[in-house]
Amino acid sequence: MAIPLRRCFRPESPCQHSMKKRPFILDCDTGTDDAIAIVAALGCEEMELVGITCVNGNVPEEDVARNNRNLLAYLGRNIPVCRGAWLPFSANRRTGAGAGVHGSTGLGTVELPEAKSCPFEERIAAQFIYEEAKKRNGELELLVTGPMTNIAIAIIEHPDFCDYIRHLYFMGGAAAGGNVNNTEEFNIWVDPEAVHIVLSSPIPCTMVGLDVTNLAIMTREDEERIRSLNTKEAVFVADLIRYMSSREKILLARMHDPLALASALFPECLETKTCFVDTECRGTYTRGHTAADLRNRRNREPNTEVAVNVNVELFKDWLIEKIACAGRKGGQG
Ligand code: BDR
Ligand code: CA
Repeated sequence: MAIPLRRCFRPESPCQHSMKKRPFILDCDTGTDDAIAIVAALGCEEMELVGITCVNGNVPEEDVARNNRNLLAYLGRNIPVCRGAWLPFSANRRTGAGAGVHGSTGLGTVELPEAKSCPFEERIAAQFIYEEAKKRNGELELLVTGPMTNIAIAIIEHPDFCDYIRHLYFMGGAAAGGNVNNTEEFNIWVDPEAVHIVLSSPIPCTMVGLDVTNLAIMTREDEERIRSLNTKEAVFVADLIRYMSSREKILLARMHDPLALASALFPECLETKTCFVDTECRGTYTRGHTAADLRNRRNREPNTEVAVNVNVELFKDWLIEKIACAGRKGGQG
């Protein structure tokens, strides 16, 4: 199904926004595509990036934290980075299980200078998210691009947590298919119990799964377009895309996490359907599968907006524009 092309930003002044900023926390397992989502978020003037919280996933949490801190320091941004969960709820998913895809540090072959002198935020992720959400009295939104462990901990530890979250957007799952096995997507597969806790909570959720993120691909041509922006931010992203695409037979890089960012800030590029979603926490072969009841056969209350189609060109234009904005020091920090 084609989504009509609609230009929703003005190319002549893309970094100029006078509207009230939407506060967000980005919870991630950086990770190549997480890092691209962070750079794009830095270029989103309509968003206030309250902090970045780290979770075990693509690489161990310690490496995620180092990547996030190094990246923000490298780009000269002063945004809190919080340490977070280093193990999933049920500790049978290998820490750093995504390292095969993202390289041993999580950033492929891209090396950032060590930012040892930048302290981490004192509070750990779940506490930070809770307190910042409470302070904003229901306005805070979450973008989760890794396993859901930190969010589930916040829900369990703070009975009023959900009252303070406006919306949660996540990259994870698939209505059909998987990338760990036939039926499991990586972020959900790492910590299905956490996802079950989040999806059973009253927090309004948007799921951006492999059904759409596998379509959101950058080519070598896109890489060159980004590189030619010639900013620190753009060259970093282009180098990541070069690494990501070199791992694929047909030289393309999948923008899983940046598309989840777009679902929050540029929903015009996605088509969604609201339905009931839960995750399989048991199952001999399907633990971590997301059951998205798109045909409404289970007669359960819809709890999630699921992305079912994407206008790839519209999305890519938006993403490249945000990377360009980040380089012009629009946006955060
Ligand atoms: C998801 O898993 C990770 O490898 C990516 O960063 C993305 O969040 C895709 O399955
Ligand atoms: Ca990720």
